[in-house]
Amino acid sequence: MVASTGRAIGVITRGTTNANRLRRVDRWIVAQPALRRAESPLVVDLGYGASGVTVFELESRLRRSRHDVRVLGLEIDPERVRMASAQLERVRAGATPFSRDARVSFQRGGFEVPTPCGERAAIIRAFNVLRQYEEEEVADVWRMLRSRLTHASDSAPGGLVVEGTCDELGRIASWVALSPAGPVSFTLSLRLAGLRAPSIVAERLPKALIHRNVAGERVHDFLAALDRAWSYAAPLSPYGPVQRWVGAVERMRETGWPVLAGRSRWRLGELSVPWSLVAPA
Ligand SMILES: C[S@@+](CC[C@H](N)C(=O)[O-])C[C@H]1O[C@@H](n2cnc3c(N)ncnc32)[C@H](O)[C@@H]1O
Repeated sequence: MVASTGRAIGVITRGTTNANRLRRVDRWIVAQPALRRAESPLVVDLGYGASGVTVFELESRLRRSRHDVRVLGLEIDPERVRMASAQLERVRAGATPFSRDARVSFQRGGFEVPTPCGERAAIIRAFNVLRQYEEEEVADVWRMLRSRLTHASDSAPGGLVVEGTCDELGRIASWVALSPAGPVSFTLSLRLAGLRAPSIVAERLPKALIHRNVAGERVHDFLAALDRAWSYAAPLSPYGPVQRWVGAVERMRETGWPVLAGRSRWRLGELSVPWSLVAPA
């Protein structure tokens, strides 16, 4: 069972964050039909940490494809809500690089995802939040977050929860995408320059997977196959790490892994697979 802090569900954890840290996941969210085709694009950033910077960055990245996006930053720590609200005043005053009219607001909240008028979200991004919880709590948290997404309609797909982890500089990231019905896909995104082995991502897996990188688990097989594909693609290194990565992903496909998306995503250092391929046994 997940504990509560006041009326918000969850507990206050370390607030470590960093400007530009979430660029990889933001770049992926921008491309999602759940955002692009949303009828009313409310995006929630749950657990933004000791500064609101990643919330402002999310809004400025998403508004390029959805000028009507609204981003709501939720934090369980009331002091962090006060600090982010003061940042918002500076943004409105034009004292920051962010647009004065950024469609951003901040509010206290937890896994119950409170929104104005109870509106459901097109996207809920929860990054580096669950890593400080227990693995056994993940299923309940996922259920709560999914229940706050928009449902599919005739003209728009349902919403997405994007729950994951990255390193301090945002060079190693991975996340699970969940629809209102359940987990859909697993994505990793890596800085390719200087990459020794893709299994470096083992250090930054979502909570549901990070303890599962052991023999007998699907995610372990997947990362071992990816390392083999990366070695197989070594002859492409003289053409640069992007060519080598694309070669490795093609090798994954040739060896039977049903890789999602296409070259334009792979070239960014991304790789997505259906969740069922890595789900805990
Ligand atoms: C490590 S910071 C992550 C900051 C930012 N998302 C990032 O990736 O850089 C985690 C934040 O999540 C907040 N948090 C933890 N549980 C939460 C919950 N149930 N609801 C809202 N915020 C939560 C913590 O208070 C903390 O500020």
